Amino acid sequence: EDCCSAADRKTVLRDWQSVWSAEFTGRRVAIGTAIFEELFAIDAGAKDVFKNVAVDKPESAEWAAHVIRVINGLDLAINLLEDPRALKEELLHLAKQHRERDGVKAVYFDEIGRALLKVLPQVSSNFNSGAWSRCFSRIADVIKSDL
Ligand code: HEM
Repeated sequence: EDCCSAADRKTVLRDWQSVWSAEFTGRRVAIGTAIFEELFAIDAGAKDVFKNVAVDKPESAEWAAHVIRVINGLDLAINLLEDPRALKEELLHLAKQHRERDGVKAVYFDEIGRALLKVLPQVSSNFNSGAWSRCFSRIADVIKSDL
């Protein structure tokens, strides 16, 4: 059920690539923004931790740059699913970066997981939510483990 098997990993990588392979630029920001909007709809309190990156100015370059950092972080993790040792190092690094930020709670990672599950199927064809959930858990569980 929760193991992110070899088949799951292959599926997740394919689905993830199909999200970003679209022709028009700016998709990373647009989809990333939609994911954060969904997170804040689930839990408005999560907004507070992003004050330093202009969360209250969603049109700003500063917020866009933050959104891109997060999506790129997720992209890196997903592309490391087949390299567990490097994945672990990357996730421990992300865990440390989030531990150092005031107010970041483990539950926010469950909530962004729900936000991703809502947005990604809308921007990917044949998105496999089961495979995604199992592999996202593998990623998020490490990032949030020390929160
Ligand atoms: C910053 C990744 C989820 C809160 C970052 C950074 C990355 C990242 C790469 C930039 C780190 C740096 O350059 O210092 C991710 C990934 C996530 C995720 C891959 C999901 C799997 C979350 C969630 C929260 C959160 C759910 C809390 C609601 C923060 C905060 C910062 C941050 C507060 C610092 C913003 C600042 O620069 O002031 N995240 N993140 N992240 N993340 Fe996440």
